[in-house]
Amino acid sequence: MPLVSMNRILATAAEEGYAVGAFNPVDYASMKAIVRAAEEEDAPVIVQTSAKTVRYYGHEVLVMWMQEMAKESTIPVVLHLDHGKELEMIQRCIETGWTSVMVDASHLPFEQNLAMSREVVEMATVAGVGVEAELGEIVGVEEDISVAEKDAHLADPDKAEIFCRELELGVFAPAIGTAHGFYKGTPNVAFGLIEEIYRRTATPLALHGGTGLSDEVIQRCIRSGCAKINISTNLKHTFVDGFSDYHKANPDDYEPLRVLKAQFESMKQLLRDKIRQFGGSDKGRKLAAAI
Ligand code: 13P
Repeated sequence: MPLVSMNRILATAAEEGYAVGAFNPVDYASMKAIVRAAEEEDAPVIVQTSAKTVRYYGHEVLVMWMQEMAKESTIPVVLHLDHGKELEMIQRCIETGWTSVMVDASHLPFEQNLAMSREVVEMATVAGVGVEAELGEIVGVEEDISVAEKDAHLADPDKAEIFCRELELGVFAPAIGTAHGFYKGTPNVAFGLIEEIYRRTATPLALHGGTGLSDEVIQRCIRSGCAKINISTNLKHTFVDGFSDYHKANPDDYEPLRVLKAQFESMKQLLRDKIRQFGGSDKGRKLAAAI
């Protein structure tokens, strides 16, 4: 089926109490591993490209890969832009075929964040593209965006309510105590805040910083209103380790396709485990038929 917007799949996930995995690929093989893992689990999935990855490959090639993979697939696949900070980049994604975009103006004062996010919602809605926007600042490093602990702050529920009332969002990303990258200590997730924000905004929530969270924390976040869970760091590590572990175990094997296959299988395994953990298994084809 063609690539789909995330609005419908996240609304259904929130209603049915599971979360859709949103994974950041770094090349064709990691994209393919995401789609294949979702097919094997029969789950909807979000392939989210960072702006850095888009700059590296160019818009056209990424869209071409993804449209081809989605066309062959029986499950709903979303192509999403993660942390779009520049309007030009976001606009080009909308024009070239992304079905969902994130505008991240969370570093700006509230009114400016709202204004930039509104501009993106207006652009995207005309094109049938879903939008994610962020409030508060999420700590850690995500590609070329780095937020120091001293600058990070949780989302304010009053502002969150206004933000979501003013904007038609497919998913809302409030800072809730999670962090990009591996956690240095025990993550301090603000479950009460997630619940309050979800109650007051009635918008499916995105959980950034999914790498390294325990099963218990993930389940509580889903119960509290998170319907999209982002994993990037985990996949990057498996991408590199999958390749190097095979080479360490088989130092004389210089057949690249065998090495790539081992790397692909280890990424697929990680992705299947995450999809299952988020409760998305056995939901894909049913959802595809309803879209
Ligand atoms: P991790 O770095 O924890 O995988 O988080 C990824 C993310 O939230 C991307 O936006």
